[in-house]
Amino acid sequence: MNIIKMNNEDIIGQAAAVVFAAQVIKKPASVLGFATGSTPLLTYEAMVAMQDAGIVSFDEIITFNLDEYLGLNSEHPQSYYNFMQRNLFLPLGLQKENIHLPNGVNPDPIAECAHYDAEIQKAGGIDLQILGIGENGHIAFNEPADTFTQGTTVMTLTPSTISANRRFFDREDDVPRQALTMGIATIMAARQIVLIATGINKAQAVHDMIKGPISPKVPASILQMHPAITVFLDSAAASML
Ligand code: F6R
Repeated sequence: MNIIKMNNEDIIGQAAAVVFAAQVIKKPASVLGFATGSTPLLTYEAMVAMQDAGIVSFDEIITFNLDEYLGLNSEHPQSYYNFMQRNLFLPLGLQKENIHLPNGVNPDPIAECAHYDAEIQKAGGIDLQILGIGENGHIAFNEPADTFTQGTTVMTLTPSTISANRRFFDREDDVPRQALTMGIATIMAARQIVLIATGINKAQAVHDMIKGPISPKVPASILQMHPAITVFLDSAAASML
């Protein structure tokens, strides 16, 4: 793991955006894996700013998101599709056919998972994946468990994740209880990974991810085995290392 500590989350966002820009300069039609949540927002802002400044063009990228809530259609204000459209895809002007998220309203979620994995395979796998980390050590929505997941799967969210995501919804009861999530094996197959963690509420998870034993109880700990991962931390998130 390449661990980079920075004081300021703005600088982390810019540094992560540079990693994406470098990837796209090398391969314009890169397959990029994106995350939702608060953590990647500054990275997305910096990517848009770089494109607006004419430094790089993300025009040709093919995107796969980590996850989508089960039961929310793409028009729902809190769907991850909508989140990505608002914060990255519309500002970058991406073509709809190059954007992929699991379909949260497919009446056959298991078939949807298999279809999503097949689409990732068809695209040639993920060149560069951005990740955040949950307070309980989850990556994507792979919650602490007895085994690591393989491909895309339906996951029941833990109370910790439901309460962390409560801030995006009017009421806790509105937070979906299940999500479709890319599996750990798929994430590990990404050729390059950037993980960002900021804030004191991530310090324990960051410690366990980097210093703890590799265990499905801390899903992010598997990343110790990834050959090309950069972890950007602010001082609060790094405070227990
Ligand atoms: C989001 C995702 C999650 C988040 C994690 C951290 O697509 O897969 O694993 O990265 O829950 O969320 P934030 O960034 O909101 O702290």
